[in-house]
Amino acid sequence: MTTAPTSYTVDVIAGDGIGLEVMPAAIDCVDTLASRFDFQVTWRHREWGSDYYRAHGRMMPVDGIDQLASGDATLLGAVGAEDIPDDVTLWGLLIPIRREFDQYINLRPIRILPGVDSPLAGVEELDIVVVRENVEGEYSEIGGRFHRGRPEETAIQEAVFTRAGVTRVAEYAAAQALARSGKLVSATKSNGIIHTMPFWDEVVAEVVAATPGVSVEKVLIDALAARLVLKPHSVDVIVASNLFGDILSDLVAAIAGSIGIAPSGNLNPARRYPSMFEPVHGSAPDIAGRNLANPVGQMWAAAMMLDHFGENAASTALMTGVEAVLASGTRTRDLGGTAGTDEFSKAVIDQLRR
Ligand code: NAI
Ligand code: MG
Repeated sequence: MTTAPTSYTVDVIAGDGIGLEVMPAAIDCVDTLASRFDFQVTWRHREWGSDYYRAHGRMMPVDGIDQLASGDATLLGAVGAEDIPDDVTLWGLLIPIRREFDQYINLRPIRILPGVDSPLAGVEELDIVVVRENVEGEYSEIGGRFHRGRPEETAIQEAVFTRAGVTRVAEYAAAQALARSGKLVSATKSNGIIHTMPFWDEVVAEVVAATPGVSVEKVLIDALAARLVLKPHSVDVIVASNLFGDILSDLVAAIAGSIGIAPSGNLNPARRYPSMFEPVHGSAPDIAGRNLANPVGQMWAAAMMLDHFGENAASTALMTGVEAVLASGTRTRDLGGTAGTDEFSKAVIDQLRR
């Protein structure tokens, strides 16, 4: 008896800048794997982002969130344009999706891929996972600005940390650590930030105490930044608040060779809502439209999406294909190569067809 292949509906928001260049390559990879591994993907292309904003005064339609809600996942490229303030692009699209779909985990794995050189001398292998809290913390809407334009002008921004919010991110990170080295590093700043960060430390410690096989080391964020450069191998899984995780994951991506390879998953682990997968990089206006963008971050994000669907063999095949092409010496310029986005992408797709 034959059964119909499993089918997934994925909303695609290529967005702006290099998002538009790296997305087609990732979609081609997934389509190639779908026929090999017997599943189907229906892509719903959403032309949202800065052009949509210029035409409609908003980044996505009023019912954009409702439109995405019926999908199995969202694959995002990048948003951001030089003529539109970054808070408009970010708060008009990405942040509402993360919050409305309760994507409270931002999972950012990073490895040094074959053929990629770390800018750090003597660092040849690296495999780190950053688990970033994704819906609360420092990125809150609470605060305000007053006395605008006057000498006494004041801006206040409140950070929001809840027991439920810290507990669930710590639990997710502890589970990641348990599946790896058992060692969790918690990024903190409880010496300087005297209310929220000691609370973060306490809740993380409680969660880890209840997770046999996992230990936690709390490290001040400034020292942790230095340690990631000086002794990156001393760190395996990091759990961090929204702001700290954002900064650390770019740092970790950079020491692994390029921000162009780093992926991230915005996860609703309960699967009540779709999760969203995206590269860590932005729209890179400095290289956009010139066939220079490295599509690996977008491809790796697609591989994370396949894992989320349970298509683990296809996900592994995608990363094996990317690694084989990198190892063969075909690389984009950010990795010291000469290949354009198109040439690199075609090489990966040829590899996946084998
Ligand atoms: P960026 O990540 O776009 O670029 C930083 C640097 O890395 C640039 O020199 C760029 O050329 C290079 N780079 C990034 N991705 C690359 C790739 N795939 N291949 C080769 N080189 C790559 O960050 P930036 O310049 O701070 O932000 C540009 C715009 O993107 C802003 O509007 C920002 O708000 C937005 N942004 C959007 C994000 C998102 O959609 N999730 C995330 C980060 C920034
Ligand atoms: Mg960032």
